[in-house]
Order: sequence, then structure tokens, then C-alpha cells
Amino acid sequence: MAQSLLAHVPADTLPAHIGIIMDGNGRWATKRGLPRSAGHKQGADTFSKIARHCREIGIPFLTAYAFSTENWRRPADEVGEIMGLLRRYLKDTKLHQDENARICFLGDREPLADDIKEMMEQVEHESAHRTGITINLALNYGGRDEIIHAVRRLSAQCASGEFKPEDIDEDLLSRQLYTAGQPDPDLIIRPSGEMRTSNFLLWQSAYSELVFMDVLWPDFTPAHLDHAILEYLNRTRRFGGI
Ligand code: FPP
Repeated sequence: MAQSLLAHVPADTLPAHIGIIMDGNGRWATKRGLPRSAGHKQGADTFSKIARHCREIGIPFLTAYAFSTENWRRPADEVGEIMGLLRRYLKDTKLHQDENARICFLGDREPLADDIKEMMEQVEHESAHRTGITINLALNYGGRDEIIHAVRRLSAQCASGEFKPEDIDEDLLSRQLYTAGQPDPDLIIRPSGEMRTSNFLLWQSAYSELVFMDVLWPDFTPAHLDHAILEYLNRTRRFGGI
């Protein structure tokens, strides 16, 4: 492993779950006179490096925002380029094998192309037994959409008499989310200088520490991740207490 700034940090103080909003790909490409797709390609490579680093420093859960429910509004050719990158990524038969990573997908798969859905199922199936790190890829993901799906399922269960409306609590709702069974993100990082969370892990981020960084995602390095974690470690988390 390259020297990490976190070498002396006790493992049990590290975030159990890091979320990343991979932003700034388009600007990275435009600054270089390249098509936006070149930024997404570089962004995908950056993701692989950061996933490896997370595994090396001992982060158990990593979630990356790859495509939002709102990203369909982009020009069709850009959506097509991102889907093409995803195909190439998912086709890798050794995908995150070196990280011993279990790969999960968060989001509504229904509108995705059939071949992508099939590849997602295969990747999930083939990586299900791995224990090094869990990598969640948020694909056609929206926090509001996720909550609506959860509410619909709970309503159906209420209607069929499985439980009463007053039985619904945070735990019951959490169990209907794409992240069911996983810890909430301790730390959410957004590079590119934008200071918003854009419908990412809306429910799960209630007490996440947010770190906004002035670097475009394709330029993001393991050292940037370490700096974000160091900032997280300097925060006092009170979860509403004192
Ligand atoms: C945001 O940057 C990025 C996206 C909407 C797409 C992210 C997708 C990838 C990194 C590729 C797919 C990922 C994997 C892991 C295969 P932006 O385009 O909004 O940037 P801008 O704000 O500079 O325009």
C-alpha cells in the first residue's frame, strides 16, 4: 500500500461507511478540451483506485453515486456514454476481486437496459461471498425515489394485515431501503466544490458528516480521501445529544 496519512489512526475510529458523490467529471474534461465522456471515463478509473484504497485502509462499506434518477435529463449521447462505461465496468470478470469486494447496487433497476440488469445480477451473485469490503454502486438511484418505494411496500404490507400503521418505525422503514442491513454512512464526500447532497442517501445521511472538497472527481486521489477522513475524525458527532 502507498503510505497513507492514516497509518497511525486506530482502525475502530475510521468511518464504517463512506459515501462519495463523484462530481466534476464534465468540468474536468471541458477544462482539457475533451468531450465530457472522457471525464466520466477518467472518473470510473478514479473510482477503481479509491475503492482499492478504501479496502487497504480498512473501510467496510463504500457507496458511490454513479447515476441518479435525475441524470436521465442529460443529453441522450451522454447518458449512452455513461451506460457504455457501466457495461465495460460490469463486464470485467475480475471486478474488484483484488479487494475481495462484495458488490451491491442501490437504485431502481427497472428502467435500465436488460443486458445491464443481467450483468448486475451476475456481479452481485459472483461477489456475494466476499468479505473484504462492500461496494455499493448507486445506479438510477434517488433518495426520494427510494423512500417512495419503501413506503409503497410498507403500505402494501399494512393493507395485507402484516402489521399496523402504528407499528411503522425507523427500523421497519430502514429495512425497506436498498441499504437494508448496512450501517448508515458516517462520512459523505462531495468533490468539485458543489455544496449539496443531490438526493444521495437521503434517509441514511441524517447524521452523516459532510465533507465538500475543491477537487474535480477525476483528480481525486487516495490522499484526498485520507484528508476527508482526517477532517471527519476531527468532528464531534453528537447525534442530537450534547
Ligand atoms: C457527475 O459529474 C458524474 C456523473 C453524473 C456520472 C458518474 C459516472 C461515472 C464516474 C462513470 C461510471 C462509474 C463507474 C464506477 C463505472 P458531472 O458530469 O455532473 O460533472 P460536472 O458537474 O463537471 O458537469
